[in-house]
Amino acid sequence: MYDLFKKYTVVSWGEFVRRVIRDDACIEETDKMLVRDFLGVHQSTPEGIGITRVSGKKDKNGNRLGLFDEGELLWHSNEAGNLIFTPGVALLAAENVIGSSTGFLQTADYYESISEVFRSELDEMVLLHRYTPGKLNPGLRDDLARTNMCPVDDAEIPIVIQSPGGIKGLHYPVNTVHGIRGMSKKDSDKVFEEINKHLFLDKYIFDHWYKNKGDLLLFDNSITLHRRFRECSKPLVLSYST
Ligand SMILES: [Fe+2]
Repeated sequence: MYDLFKKYTVVSWGEFVRRVIRDDACIEETDKMLVRDFLGVHQSTPEGIGITRVSGKKDKNGNRLGLFDEGELLWHSNEAGNLIFTPGVALLAAENVIGSSTGFLQTADYYESISEVFRSELDEMVLLHRYTPGKLNPGLRDDLARTNMCPVDDAEIPIVIQSPGGIKGLHYPVNTVHGIRGMSKKDSDKVFEEINKHLFLDKYIFDHWYKNKGDLLLFDNSITLHRRFRECSKPLVLSYST
């Protein structure tokens, strides 16, 4: 958004979208496509609040209606590699959700469990993020999710942060985590291996298996990862970031 605002000297997203809708000749076609794709996976509440569809559904012309493709969504945080990521997310189960789950991995207990030496190393550590197609949602090979997850390669975010609830943990969204500032890729991967071995354990995971259409999940997106586990027929969940 920042790049688009600068490029076209607009002051709001709404103004930019209106210019795209009226097919403003001053806006390049690739930028128009980006906005049209973005609008295609969003809908508004009656109050005008924008929400994102999490679904692999398509309309009768084959146009995507949701941000992702069908299949599992692997561990991630929303806007994972963006310094101004949203701290909280709400999910509303809208269609065909029974038989699938959204799972959560909390990192606070892991952070408390490690040695003081390693904890102080993590306290100083800055991660480099990159978006890799297919790493979050194996079936998704296009780039719309890049704008949400990590629009700029090698974005830097500290690994240890405090959640809005005041709890220290890891901002460690493995879908975009790529390296550690000041370390080779090989050494970074060794550190990630060590973290992964002790973090991705059942004791830190809670899977919510949807029981009803209308289930509402509210969760921290700063030091918590989430995933969609197992696929059922074209589930649709509405996502609101706050
Ligand atoms: Fe998500």
